[in-house]
Amino acid sequence: MIPTTAPFPSTRMRRTRRAPWIRDLVQENTLTSADLIWPIFVCDGEKARQPIASMPGVERLSVDLAIDAAREAADLGIPCIALFPYTDPSVKTPSAEEAWNPDNLVNRATRAIKSAVPSVGVMLDVALDPYNSDGHDGIVRDGIILNDETLEALNKQSLAQAEAGADILGPSDMMDGRIASIRVILEENGFQNTMILSYAAKYASAFYGPFRDAVGASGALKGGKKTYQMNPANADEALREVALDLAEGADMVMVKPGMPYLDICRRVKDQFGVPTYAYQVSGEYAMIAGAAERGWVDGEKIMFESLMAFKRAGCDGILTYFAPAIARLMR
Ligand code: PBG
Repeated sequence: MIPTTAPFPSTRMRRTRRAPWIRDLVQENTLTSADLIWPIFVCDGEKARQPIASMPGVERLSVDLAIDAAREAADLGIPCIALFPYTDPSVKTPSAEEAWNPDNLVNRATRAIKSAVPSVGVMLDVALDPYNSDGHDGIVRDGIILNDETLEALNKQSLAQAEAGADILGPSDMMDGRIASIRVILEENGFQNTMILSYAAKYASAFYGPFRDAVGASGALKGGKKTYQMNPANADEALREVALDLAEGADMVMVKPGMPYLDICRRVKDQFGVPTYAYQVSGEYAMIAGAAERGWVDGEKIMFESLMAFKRAGCDGILTYFAPAIARLMR
């Protein structure tokens, strides 16, 4: 609703834009480091940093360096990090058993980080794509991504992650019924306080390209993800996805990708009023960082503007690869 406004010249919108102090005073939304979740790619090795060609400025980090990154997050006031593994292709299988190996890379990283930097939240992705030789989020048979068989695998993966100390599980697989299935397994095994931030409205998007390079899933992926991720043309359907995940026991919900889907963020926040997050995904990062690197845009300003847009759209927080850079600037 637009409040009644007297006509010009009684109203001059520029009065409150005249100087920085008054612009600050009428500012509606704010961005702080407490709004950020920092996604970090982990790899095997020690003191290992592997640049990701399609994500300038982002590196995969071995566990020891990921601990340093977690310390940096704590220093910068970033409340939570999200870990994603680069899995050695030799351990990928059609049934993705590595996903529930208690000593897999992300589980080892989580244990190490939670013991070194307990004040920082750790979020882990629940989905089989880093471990699946088909590169899909679910179990594949004869080219079909199986729903109910995948749920069993996700349950095992979730339990292993909760046992490793993950504070938040982020099911990103888009199988039907996975939130209820995971919630039951967590409750039955004494993980009453493990949170679920569901990738509730996750679209089949080309914006994930660089991420798949980062986790080494691009080569493996056969076919697209359109039979489980959402059609970018749909918006009402996103509200049904969110409603289902909340009914099944999600504590928080996410819209993904971010910038092209701000309309969905706003509708989700207005409709449900629950903690709502957006993932500014790898392709969004790559566009901004790539253009900034070439001097085509002002990278710092665009970073701020793009993240503020999420707050304006109603998000409570943003998963963004810019997290450490922007938190440093805001300090
Ligand atoms: C995997 C997953 C993806 C992302 C997060 N978890 C990729 C995909 O679904 O293919 C994308 C993140 C990004 O692009 O930054 N389930």
